[in-house]
Amino acid sequence: MMDIQKIMVIGAGQMGSGIAQVCAAAGFDVFLHDLKEEFVNRGMSSIDKQLQKQVEKDRITLQEKDAILERITPSVDLTHAGSVDIVIEAAVEKMDVKASLFHELDKLAQEHAILATNTSSLPITEIAAATKRPEKVIGMHFMNPVPVMKLVEIIRGLATSDEVYEAIHDLTKKLAKVPVEVNDFPGFVSNRILMPMINEAIYTVYEGVATPEAVDEVMKLGMNHPMGPLTLADFIGLDTCLYIMETLHEGFGDDKYRPCPLLRKYVKAGWLGRKTGKGFYSY
Ligand code: CAA
Ligand code: NAD
Repeated sequence: MMDIQKIMVIGAGQMGSGIAQVCAAAGFDVFLHDLKEEFVNRGMSSIDKQLQKQVEKDRITLQEKDAILERITPSVDLTHAGSVDIVIEAAVEKMDVKASLFHELDKLAQEHAILATNTSSLPITEIAAATKRPEKVIGMHFMNPVPVMKLVEIIRGLATSDEVYEAIHDLTKKLAKVPVEVNDFPGFVSNRILMPMINEAIYTVYEGVATPEAVDEVMKLGMNHPMGPLTLADFIGLDTCLYIMETLHEGFGDDKYRPCPLLRKYVKAGWLGRKTGKGFYSY
């Protein structure tokens, strides 16, 4: 079994900071990397806030909080990838960004290192093809909010080795999450099922059937969903929702996956949901 001690997380947005937090809480040393210092600092302060809530709820002590934060090293230098056993990439959901990152990481990382991606929908096999180590590339798909959600969808690319799969399965359990293995197909299982529902909710608003509030109330109170689909879309990020729908549309070629024009319009306007303060709701 591969021995994983040091982890690098790429992207300090809502997913990357959550992943870094759970890795550090499980005792791993973590680099949290982003393009600019201000982005890494934003990620670090959101981790600090989350941990502070745990302290206030008496779940962890102040000393434990400090120890977790100390295990996370901020980074804007990709060459830190050369000193870790696994990189978990959680940058933006764009194939060109992920392919060029994996191409670079392949050159920087140690020979034994695993390159994992938290992609929501993009083909693992295509990301792996940007490297010379496709057997060490794998999908490790966490759910948002990472500290709360139990699932990690694990996706093998065409060439992913059994040894790498076992190492990720084991790591997921060490992070106190539940691994579920699925095949490499657009949107995997989670977003192939979730995102068409969210897209349909947006069409329902676009076609004037109901207000966002009414759509969310129907799904919350009528179907017992913890959040309505438009609240959830704002929470995920409308840019991420659009990129996932585009991947489904392109991958399956079926018009039922066509992204709603209203979703495109909001993304073009810079209304990306909670992270920009405006989406279907204002924050
Ligand atoms: N980060 C960390 N912890 C958070 C959090 C956040 N952003 N938001 C809430 N929590 C924690 C709270 O601290 C609280 O913890 P305790 O119970 O330990 O005290 C717990 O979650 C419940 O929070 P609240 O009582 O404040 O609110 P809630 O009961 O409404 O739960 C929720 C919040 C867990 C987010 C819930 O609304 C929910 O489950 N929503 C749906 C989430 C979902 O569907 N996620 C998947 C998105 S899709 C995806 O991730 C895949 C993709 O590729 C797009
Ligand atoms: P986000 O917008 O909150 O954060 C993305 C971060 O990546 C930003 O801080 C950005 O500066 C950084 N970044 C972009 N290009 C980079 C590069 N080349 N190198 C280093 N950092 C770079 O997005 P997010 O919601 O955290 O999503 C990140 C990834 O996780 C996406 O692939 C997304 O599909 C996936 N994902 C998202 C969710 C969700 O609910 N939002 C759930 C599961 C998986």
